[in-house]
Amino acid sequence: MKTIVFASNNTHKLEEIRAILGNKYEVKNLKDIGCEVDIPETGTTFRENALQKATYVKEHYGYDCFADDSGLQVEALNGEPGVYSARYAIKNGVTFQGSKDEANMDVLLCKMANETNRKACFRTSIALIYQGETHFFDGTVEGHIIQEKRGTGGFGYDPLFIPDGYTQTFAELGNEVKNGISHRARAVAKLAEFLTSPTPLS
Ligand code: IMP
Repeated sequence: MKTIVFASNNTHKLEEIRAILGNKYEVKNLKDIGCEVDIPETGTTFRENALQKATYVKEHYGYDCFADDSGLQVEALNGEPGVYSARYAIKNGVTFQGSKDEANMDVLLCKMANETNRKACFRTSIALIYQGETHFFDGTVEGHIIQEKRGTGGFGYDPLFIPDGYTQTFAELGNEVKNGISHRARAVAKLAEFLTSPTPLS
């Protein structure tokens, strides 16, 4: 069985990927290969950040590898929070004591207080370095940002995001529905299709 590294330590994402690729690839994470470095993500796009992580593993450990980067993009804010999604409050100089997700959402709501254009999307980019070549797989889910948080499920900006075609937020819809339509699920499906197609194994 071929070994491939997923440059992440997120166990939830790893299980999801293993469930899809499990019988064709041995999927290792960063811990499995002894990588304890916090790999820098200094890019200005999701693709750049994902590629930085995959390249680090390839160069230091030699494995074929893939990595992901995701975030929220709001049309009226010219694509913000974008690559700063995880640290939006900090980037805006807001100090907080409680949850980072809550602080990030509060900053977003504040910036959008007078906005009528609420269009937004979540985006995931996966960079794969495979047999000396680089491939990208992107997934997007379109929707809009509501005026106040609703729901308790999910993480990140889920309580503020209603995907197109639905009336509930990602935090209200629950993981099963979310995982069927999410940006991450769509990007992972494309990666899996590539890796499980006859060509990469030949
Ligand atoms: P990551 O690259 O998957 O770790 O995502 C970076 C950040 O984007 C997270 O910390 C969240 O703030 C945001 N984000 C990414 N995916 C989602 C999602 O599915 N729901 C809500 N927020 C998300």
